[in-house]
Amino acid sequence: MTEPARDTKPTLVLGGTGKTGRRVAARLEARGLPVRIGSRSAEPPFDWEDPATWSSALDGVGSVYVSYFPDLAVSGAVETVGSFAELAVRSGVPRVVLLAGRGEPEHVLAEQAVRASGAELTIMRSAWFMQNFSEGFILEDVLSGEVALPAGDTQEPFVDADDLADVAVAALTQDGHVGELYEVTGPRLVTFSEAVGEIAEASGREIRYRPVSIEQHAAAATEQGVPPEFVQLLIYLFGEVLDGRNAHVADGIQRALGLQPRDFADYARDAAATGVWNVSAVVN
Ligand SMILES: NC(=O)c1ccc[n+]([C@@H]2O[C@H](COP(=O)([O-])OP(=O)(O)OC[C@H]3O[C@@H](n4cnc5c(N)ncnc54)[C@H](OP(=O)(O)O)[C@@H]3O)[C@@H](O)[C@H]2O)c1
Repeated sequence: MTEPARDTKPTLVLGGTGKTGRRVAARLEARGLPVRIGSRSAEPPFDWEDPATWSSALDGVGSVYVSYFPDLAVSGAVETVGSFAELAVRSGVPRVVLLAGRGEPEHVLAEQAVRASGAELTIMRSAWFMQNFSEGFILEDVLSGEVALPAGDTQEPFVDADDLADVAVAALTQDGHVGELYEVTGPRLVTFSEAVGEIAEASGREIRYRPVSIEQHAAAATEQGVPPEFVQLLIYLFGEVLDGRNAHVADGIQRALGLQPRDFADYARDAAATGVWNVSAVVN
C-alpha cells in the first residue's frame, strides 16, 4: 500500500480549541489541509492526563502541534510531553511543533524531553499572549473595570496569538524550520498598566490597573473559587516569569516569517471592534 504524502495526512492540533490551537487549525483548514483537533472535547478525545487516549489521536496523522495544558511548569508535565513525543515518533509521526514559554527552566526541560524523542522539532518560546486580556484569565477583570495583578511595573513584550499561529503553520507546512528555536515576542515592551491603558482607550471604557501583591492575588483567586493547583500556577507565573527576566524583545517572528510582529495597539483596536470588552453586550 502506498503511504500518503505528509501534507495529505492530518495535522493533530493539541489544544485545538484554545487560544493558539484554534488559530493553527483554522489556518490549516483555510489552506485545505486536513486537521484533527486534540482536546478532551474532540472526537476521538485527547486527554493529557489519560495516555490511553493518545494513540487513537495520533493514528494516521503526519504532524503535531503541541500546546500543553495548563502549563509545562506543572508537576509531571515534562515526563508527560516527553512520553507523548516518544509515542508520536514511534507511531510514525515525524514533525512536531512545540509551544513553550520564555525564561522558565521547567519549560526548557520539557523542550529537552521532546527533543530526545528524535522528532523533527521546531520550538516556539513565547512571550505572554495579548489574548490573555480578551480570551484568557484577565478578561473578567477587564470587564469589571479593574485589572488587579501582581505584575508591578514589569515590562512584557506581549505577543499576538495570530502571529504565533502563523509561525506554527509555517513550521508545520514548510521546509527549513526543523531544528529551529524561535523566541517569539511582540515588537514592544509594555507594562500591564500600559496594556490596560491601551485597552481602555481602544474600547472607550474606564479601566484601571491596580498592582497587588502575589499573596493578595492568590487570596482573591481562592475566594473566587479558582482551584488550588491553578492558584499555585498563577503564583509561579507572576513570581518567576514576571521578575524582569523576560523584559526584552526577540526576533523569532521576523526569523520564521520575515514579517514584523503585530503591535499591542493593533491587537487592542481589533479586539475592541469584536465587542469582547463591551460590558453592555455581556450584561444584556
Ligand atoms: N497564555 C499565555 O500567555 C502563554 C504564554 C506562553 C506559553 N503559553 C503556553 O500555552 C499553552 C496553552 O495555554 P493557554 O493558557 O493559552 O491555554 P489554551 O490554549 O487557551 O488552552 C485550552 C486548550 O487546552 C485543552 N485542554 C485543557 N485541558 C486539557 C487536557 N487535560 N488534555 C488535553 N487538552 C486539554 C482545551 O480543550 P478541552 O477543554 O476540550 O480539553 C483547549 O483546547 C500552555 O502550555 C502555556 O504554558 C501560554
